[in-house]
Amino acid sequence: MSKLMQYNRRDFLKTSCQACLAVMAAGIVGSEMACKPSKGLYVGKIRKGILRVPVKAFNEQQTLLVQTYNYKEPLILIRKKEGEVKALLMRCTHKGVGLEKIGEQLVCPAHGSIFDFDGKVLQSPAGEALTSFPAVADEKTVLVKIEQ
Ligand code: FES
Repeated sequence: MSKLMQYNRRDFLKTSCQACLAVMAAGIVGSEMACKPSKGLYVGKIRKGILRVPVKAFNEQQTLLVQTYNYKEPLILIRKKEGEVKALLMRCTHKGVGLEKIGEQLVCPAHGSIFDFDGKVLQSPAGEALTSFPAVADEKTVLVKIEQ
């Protein structure tokens, strides 16, 4: 093999490895970004069966998505009137698919079930209401009782 061919081959390998490292680094950074909770998703810890969420996490919105370690899907906390909060698991009762909040409805992207902010079925094929958790709130904190 000529010196020119060896040089080109070595140069090619060196350049390729640098490109691979750059792609891998970008992938790592990208995957870290994907793991971060999106804006509006509060990460909550449950202690002794109680999830505590500061009211200021709602950022003056009516609803807040809360990710816990207990469930794959987040909970949605819905502030009703003063001191009244609804806590629902964002999991469709038809086949367990994660729900999406669209306006004031919770919609299943799989087969089209729709639930209201009380967890009641508005549109089948789901036949059961969403899993809900007892919740109370004062002016500073929302407390949700989670069974463990
Ligand atoms: S899983 Fe939600 S409607 Fe089928």
